[in-house]
Amino acid sequence: MLKEHFLISGLAGKKKLTGTVSIPGAKNAALKAMAASILFKDEVNITNVPNIEDVSRTADLLTELGAKVALRGHSCRIATNDIHSTDLASEISKRLRASIVFAGPLMGRFGKVSFPHPGGCVIGERPIDLFLEGFQKMGAKLSVENEGERTRYMLRVTGKKLRGTELFFRIQSVTGTETFMMAGVLADGETIIKNAALEPEITALAQFLNACGARIEGAGTTTICVKGGGLLSSRGGKFEIPPDRIDAGSFLILAALAGKDMEITNCNPAHLESLIDLLRSSGSAVSVGKNYLRVRDIPGMKNKKPHAINVKTHEYPGFPTDLQAPLVVYLSQAAGESMVFETIFEGRLNYTESLRRMGADIVMMDPHRVIVKGPTALSGKDLESPDLRAGLAFVIAAVIAKGDSVIHNVYNIDRGYERIEERLRAIGVSIERVSILD
Ligand code: EPZ
Repeated sequence: MLKEHFLISGLAGKKKLTGTVSIPGAKNAALKAMAASILFKDEVNITNVPNIEDVSRTADLLTELGAKVALRGHSCRIATNDIHSTDLASEISKRLRASIVFAGPLMGRFGKVSFPHPGGCVIGERPIDLFLEGFQKMGAKLSVENEGERTRYMLRVTGKKLRGTELFFRIQSVTGTETFMMAGVLADGETIIKNAALEPEITALAQFLNACGARIEGAGTTTICVKGGGLLSSRGGKFEIPPDRIDAGSFLILAALAGKDMEITNCNPAHLESLIDLLRSSGSAVSVGKNYLRVRDIPGMKNKKPHAINVKTHEYPGFPTDLQAPLVVYLSQAAGESMVFETIFEGRLNYTESLRRMGADIVMMDPHRVIVKGPTALSGKDLESPDLRAGLAFVIAAVIAKGDSVIHNVYNIDRGYERIEERLRAIGVSIERVSILD
């Protein structure tokens, strides 16, 4: 088996990075657009698709169902008329949380689906109760098969089609909102989602589906109303995936920590208001253009360190949980005591133990809260990437640390970040991918 790690030589706190980083399409928009192809009677053409592992796995999942998928560079063409199965492959689904959104279009089009408990990053319990309850309210029958440790959920529509209904989400859920928005497109009557999530990837998906014949109103607000109809048609149009706000935000944090003059291009700063506000409030200067961000280490303010600030993760437009780990690295360099409250996932602060080994002063109060005291110099260490966002936080920590770091389990980073070492090298980071045959 091929094992890969990153070898990074740190800058020992110096602000040296210069140049431009271009932001690829958003992972969490691309995966849902690919699943949405099941709602179409003709071929779907998706552009600006990031070249990442999770996109390849989603393509595999579609192919196993019988879809024709042509993934070339940043474009992906999918035809779903030959789908012959509605059983999601266990191995892939267990690795990919986004596999759960397939349930929406498959239930809408074929009235049945089966899937294992979806996997993805190990960041907490990640239940699926909203999905199971939602489909049952729309007229599906649920059966659960337990084979040893394997659980498989089977949903089947009892009438002819899914029935539009009103769903109130106890908790705002991104994939939940996307799943039922897609299910509603082919359901009978009207599906109303209340307390829907507001993430920009949801709005982008709704706009694309509406351009192809869907009738979705309210995406981007907490009440979404979908009027059911027939299969959609792309009529040769394209869906351009919006830029990845988490990728852009991660590079912005790196720029605030180690940038001499860095520009982040092809991004949408309007999707990053919470981070930009937070960085500015803690003393970092960020310039914002229409589709770029820039951080410069201004002469005369050279030794200015950011100061501590409290952060609470929140659904969009609040501070994203997916940027919490990189932000903790930033706060380890900020003067004073910052409280970080992770409100979305209960296992998403465990990586802080590794930052402590690098020299950060972080105290865990409970599974949801840490106190970060800064500034502390970090030193290079051997680190295991636990999930993609914490993995990238380790890369950022390694860049600002003194000495060399080794980051294992690079697959976790490749899942969500395109050509990461190439883009980092272009701005002056000393990073190498080392492959070892184990
Ligand atoms: C999406 O996960 C993203 N994944 C995550 O990105 C992101 O961290 C998360 O949204 C929050 O922004 C994808 O889009 C594929 P949720 P999702 O359902 O949809 C609870 C990354 O790194 N909940 O919005 O799975 C849940 O436990 C990934 O790219 C239930 O209780 O998250 C959590 O506390 C990681 N029951 C809260 O809702 C359910 O049935 C919000 O989770 C479903 C969710």
